[in-house]
Amino acid sequence: MGIVETMMGILVSLCFFGVLICKRLVRQYAQDPLRQNERDKDFAANMLFFSKWLLFLGVFFTISYVVYYTVKGSLWQAHLQDWLDLIFRWLHIIFGIAWIGASFYFVFLENSLNRNNNVRDELAGNLWAIHGGGFYYLEKFKAAPKSIPKHLHWFKYEAYFTWLTGTCLLTVVYYFDAESFLINPEITNMTPVIGVMIGVSSIVFSYVFYELLSKPAMLQPKRRPLFFAIMFVYLAIVGYGLSLVFNPRAAYIHLGAIMGTMMAGNVFFCIIPAQKEMVFAAKEGREPDVSLGIRASYRSYHNNYFTLPVLFIMISNHFPSTFGHQNNILILALLCLAGAGIKHYHNQWERGESNKWVVPLSIAFILSAIYITAPMSRDELLNAEKVSFSEIHPIIQQRCSPCHAKNCTDDVYIVAQKGIIFDTPELIVQHKDKILNFAVINKTMPQGNKTRITQEERDQLEKWIIQGAKLD
Ligand code: HEC
Repeated sequence: MGIVETMMGILVSLCFFGVLICKRLVRQYAQDPLRQNERDKDFAANMLFFSKWLLFLGVFFTISYVVYYTVKGSLWQAHLQDWLDLIFRWLHIIFGIAWIGASFYFVFLENSLNRNNNVRDELAGNLWAIHGGGFYYLEKFKAAPKSIPKHLHWFKYEAYFTWLTGTCLLTVVYYFDAESFLINPEITNMTPVIGVMIGVSSIVFSYVFYELLSKPAMLQPKRRPLFFAIMFVYLAIVGYGLSLVFNPRAAYIHLGAIMGTMMAGNVFFCIIPAQKEMVFAAKEGREPDVSLGIRASYRSYHNNYFTLPVLFIMISNHFPSTFGHQNNILILALLCLAGAGIKHYHNQWERGESNKWVVPLSIAFILSAIYITAPMSRDELLNAEKVSFSEIHPIIQQRCSPCHAKNCTDDVYIVAQKGIIFDTPELIVQHKDKILNFAVINKTMPQGNKTRITQEERDQLEKWIIQGAKLD
């Protein structure tokens, strides 16, 4: 049984099993006279909602599997996979923008509230804004309002759907085609199933680590530097570990998935439950448990600093000079520090505070990354033994053309990838800089080294290009 069959089997069983559990809980709660308070009613309503979603997902996965089984091995397999990639990527950025946008907006509100000038007693602050041709006036309450309004807007599905579509995207791109995108055959010859298991457990284990570290005492503002330092070292170690077994691009994306899971987990397990507690308490006319609210605000603070690093990781696959570099985890660490630093400055700026060293330090981190990834001087290659085109041509034909020709011969990549075609000597010369970048410096091509290029062949390509990529 292949990886797709195993994963589909597990997913579909989990979905249908989940439906049964949810339905059972809904029945139990409906019949139990002790469970008719606001909290339990909300829980039962959530379970009903979940059961519908799980049923939908179970049916969706089953149909997907039938489709997959039908198209397997035909030209449609790679085609549909490509479209799944497109659709999930599209959805992922739509929900991601909605989530991060709302999150930035509320951080802005919190930082910019007028808290002193003519503010009613029950309010924490207010704010005037103009946008899209209209004036807006907002008020923030110190505690809950006297009565909870009927229509209260929540911001949670953006986060959940960002996570769900991200998980689907990770599966479609890195797990369905684990041999090309997840595992690096130059480093290890593990099977796709083992690779996927390592990937998934790195995410689950990291989330557990984060939860264990987030003890109330550790979350105190005065411990924040220590907390962030531990998380930073932990993520660097995990990233380094993953880069030892995975394709470097997959190692990057897994770090992004790990941080994204922490962020979505904070919303699901901490922030939304705390808000629910505030609403229930107000409805029941009692004091809310403030410790939950405080904890949620700390988690929200973490999310705020994760945003820019995670956003970089999401676009990192366009930049092989970062993930393809031999010190790729160091480069990622520098860019994450720069991102978190710039977010810190942004927060302070909105609050009207300023800290002189954050921006220069963040820029210094980016400059160091630019410096580390600079191409090395290759003067010695100019004078090395001359490499002729007749030595290069067979390498390109054998190692690249299967996926980069008008008529591709690869079993998965049936159209020329990224429109790069090496059918004629002129086309090869035309793409020489890209060949140098992708096949020599970053070694991200051939994809997953499917055509087993050797280091000697990469060296030959390098010499030929540095010597001027002549056709004789
Ligand atoms: C097994 C299939 C496969 C082989 C073999 C292969 N490539 Fe690619 N190539 C791809 C895929 C897939 C992409 C698109 C990658 C992406 O979307 O990130 C690609 C993209 C590229 C790009 C464009 C990258 C960009 O982002 O602009 C270049 C250049 C390239 N390959 C060069 C080569 C060279 C040179 C070789 C041979 C040494 C080679 N490829 C062998 C599959 C392959």
